[in-house]
Amino acid sequence: MNEIRPVPPGIDPSVPSVARMYDHYLGGKDNYASDREAAAAVIEASIRTGTDIRVAVRDNRAFLGRTVRALAEAGVRQFIDIGAGLPTQENVHQVALRAAPDARIVYVDNDPIVLVHARALLADNPRTRVIEGDLHDPAAILDDPEVTRHIDFGQPVAVVFCAILQFIPDDAEIAAILETVRGRLASGSHLVISHPFPGEQPDEVFDTVSDVYTRTRSGSFTIRGSKAITSFFAGTELLEPGIVPVQNWRNGDTEPDFTVPSYLGGVGRLI
Ligand SMILES: C[S@@+](CC[C@H](N)C(=O)[O-])C[C@H]1O[C@@H](n2cnc3c(N)ncnc32)[C@H](O)[C@@H]1O
Repeated sequence: MNEIRPVPPGIDPSVPSVARMYDHYLGGKDNYASDREAAAAVIEASIRTGTDIRVAVRDNRAFLGRTVRALAEAGVRQFIDIGAGLPTQENVHQVALRAAPDARIVYVDNDPIVLVHARALLADNPRTRVIEGDLHDPAAILDDPEVTRHIDFGQPVAVVFCAILQFIPDDAEIAAILETVRGRLASGSHLVISHPFPGEQPDEVFDTVSDVYTRTRSGSFTIRGSKAITSFFAGTELLEPGIVPVQNWRNGDTEPDFTVPSYLGGVGRLI
């Protein structure tokens, strides 16, 4: 972000935000010095693990695009993107509307900067809504009048949780959140989930990353193995190819490599 511009109300540029750090990884300009410093520490730590967070987040965005396109092409017409992040290239509404011009999309985030930018981008798009919501209170998101006016929960909905669950440290809370969400969805609905995965690196390698994220607005970062990530798809039937490094999800026929850190991702269809 050009720092000569006024800081929008409610935003503290001195505290790093995961949304703005993520924007920096993606080469965006909607970030402040505190975000870039925190992101630099994560980039350095990721390189020590033999990966690069900037590549991983691009892979994660591309996964998001492929999953939304696949679901729109398969007939899903409603999308709720929770932890949407700052608008970038190929946002959910752009991908979904290209495949299905009658799709409806709701973006949800708890970071005021995301809401300011997303609302500015989408102000004149009648097929999208942006709401402030916190995943710690999923019922409030689902009951938000903007959501209930825009989304018909009697019809299939794809709910997207890409690169957000790592900011909730308690597995049991995630299970409860996902149970609440599944409980509201009609059959034919889907969950799209991606989550950072350590590969064969020991979790301690990610301590620096956790320390950095502890100082952000989100307050924590939890890396998880495939067992925990798989458990988040409870109550769903996985679409092919299952839970894989995001770069391998319906993207050519490269053999998935579960030994290196990446995001793991998948799409589950409610059963
Ligand atoms: C790493 S970004 C991911 C952006 C996008 N989903 C993607 O995968 O490209 C995580 C986003 O989740 C949001 N977020 C973190 N914790 C949240 C919570 N408890 N409720 C709602 N949004 C949250 C952050 O503000 C940020 O915009």
